Amino acid sequence: TVWAAFARVTATSIRHRSRKPPCHTDAAGSAGGIVIFEQSMKRIVILISGRGSNMQAILEAKLPVQVAAVIANKEDAGGLQTAASLGIATAVLSHKGYPSREAFDADLARLIDSYQPDLVVLAGFMRILSEGFVRHYENRMINIHPSLLPAFTGLSTHARAIQEGVKVHGCSVHFVTPELDHGPIICQAVVPVLDDDTEDTLSKRVLVCEHQIYPQAVRWFAEGRLSVEGNRVRVANHADIQAHSLIVPRD
Ligand code: GRF
Repeated sequence: TVWAAFARVTATSIRHRSRKPPCHTDAAGSAGGIVIFEQSMKRIVILISGRGSNMQAILEAKLPVQVAAVIANKEDAGGLQTAASLGIATAVLSHKGYPSREAFDADLARLIDSYQPDLVVLAGFMRILSEGFVRHYENRMINIHPSLLPAFTGLSTHARAIQEGVKVHGCSVHFVTPELDHGPIICQAVVPVLDDDTEDTLSKRVLVCEHQIYPQAVRWFAEGRLSVEGNRVRVANHADIQAHSLIVPRD
């Protein structure tokens, strides 16, 4: 219908592209008189506050990305050492001593932008972000949250899942919007909540999944396969997903 066509045209459809030229000359190739074009790799900057296990999963996944830097807001963030040992540039910008959230975020954005990233990856970055900061990275900043969003935004997600008696729990990777732990969802993983689960056992089960879906989401972005329409993220050339029901527990 005309209305459907109109809706399609007006839907915000964002395809991520590198702001750098789409290809570059490979020096080795041109030496032999043949110009070899490669798609330039997306650059990412990863922000952490703590142990950085999601960061590590991304670094070790051998993704087609250039990790320009890992930035922490805490000097003692364990992930900094891991990143350095893997040969990644690291930087620390402490939020302490800033007069306001906005002032810190402005400096943080300057630091991030000095690495010219195509994508900012929040991996356990424990800060509430100002609206201006989030808007600056609209559709090029992603986060992982340890729940099946939109359930259990905020902290203590595993304890609250147990407390509420839900039978499935999990994690979500999403584009970041100004509302805390909201934004178009790229992928999710689901785990069962078992009768004898504690916060500790449940969080460990979810973390295994986090380490699978976060590198996957970054790879999809790097391959230019994500597009956002309203709240929905589409993944181009997705392998067929069989529509199975997930029943917990099974007999
Ligand atoms: C993860 O559970 C992540 O979902 C949440 O913060 C935690 C960070 O863990 N946003 P790590 O630093 O990646 O190990």
